[in-house]
Amino acid sequence: MPPVKGIILAGGTGSRLHPLTVAFSKQLLPVYDKPMIYYPLSTLMLGGIREFLVITTPTDAPMFRKVLGDGAELGLDITYAQQWQPAGIADALRIGADFIGTGPVSLILGDNIFSSPNLPGLLTGSLAEADGATLFGHTVPDPRPYGVAEKDAAGRLIGLEEKPAQPRGSEIVTGLYVYSGDVVDVVRDITPSARGELEITDVNRAYLAQGRARIHSLDSGTRWLDAGTYDGLLDAAAFVRAEEQRGVRLGCLEEIALNLGYIDADTCYALGSKHQKSGYGRYVMAISGKTD
Ligand code: DAU
Repeated sequence: MPPVKGIILAGGTGSRLHPLTVAFSKQLLPVYDKPMIYYPLSTLMLGGIREFLVITTPTDAPMFRKVLGDGAELGLDITYAQQWQPAGIADALRIGADFIGTGPVSLILGDNIFSSPNLPGLLTGSLAEADGATLFGHTVPDPRPYGVAEKDAAGRLIGLEEKPAQPRGSEIVTGLYVYSGDVVDVVRDITPSARGELEITDVNRAYLAQGRARIHSLDSGTRWLDAGTYDGLLDAAAFVRAEEQRGVRLGCLEEIALNLGYIDADTCYALGSKHQKSGYGRYVMAISGKTD
């Protein structure tokens, strides 16, 4: 099987968060104690992915490099590409075509934050058996601002609508997608929408028409947040803080790398000590089990 790869889309204008994002990338804004991008990166790491492409705006690219580097310290391989204008979520799969190669690939939106007990297993399994599109659904009270899945009585995916005024279901399509390598060809055949964007829902619909799209429902213990609005950003920070107060660290890259055996205890301690004046750094030092 070819290596599984992950794309994090971290461009866009962040206009729903203006003026917060006039001079600063949305996906680097703080979500309690870490930059936002730590969370989607951690989600893909938990799915077993080690090779990443981070897509940003040209202006923001140097700051992402400063935050994440080339990933080697964490046993990862992180490269970067630029999106010159926000030409759609599916544009990430066009930009990433060479990176994807023959697939499989997972794409995640840089403002999507997941805490879901069954997601790591679902993601790993979906990447191992990637064929067409695999989506991850979550039930929300008001699905209208999102992509919405329509399912038949047997729970099979039968329709997808983007931001419908009258949704045909309450399960939304989260910003995490798994595709087989032929997604590069599917994207090439998609025409831009009325707003001039390559829509991810059109890619997923193309696979649905081929009978090669499915949706996995995240379990009831799932918390999913779109941190791209004022309330979403604040809710995400409050959630992360509440989890930390009960001893669960979300999005701690060093902890995940240590648990997955990508780094050893000495490296973990050394990485933590770079931030030793912060609670985050002290936590990373502590989980290494090492002392001075
Ligand atoms: O959050 C989940 C939802 O994400 C899905 O339910 C929808 O089906 C999907 O279309 C998307 O909806 P949004 O309204 O959140 O999409 P938005 O255009 O805001 O873009 C999502 C993120 O992707 C945002 O953080 C910015 C980034 N982005 C977006 C576009 C269009 C880019 O980096 N480049 C782009 O060209």
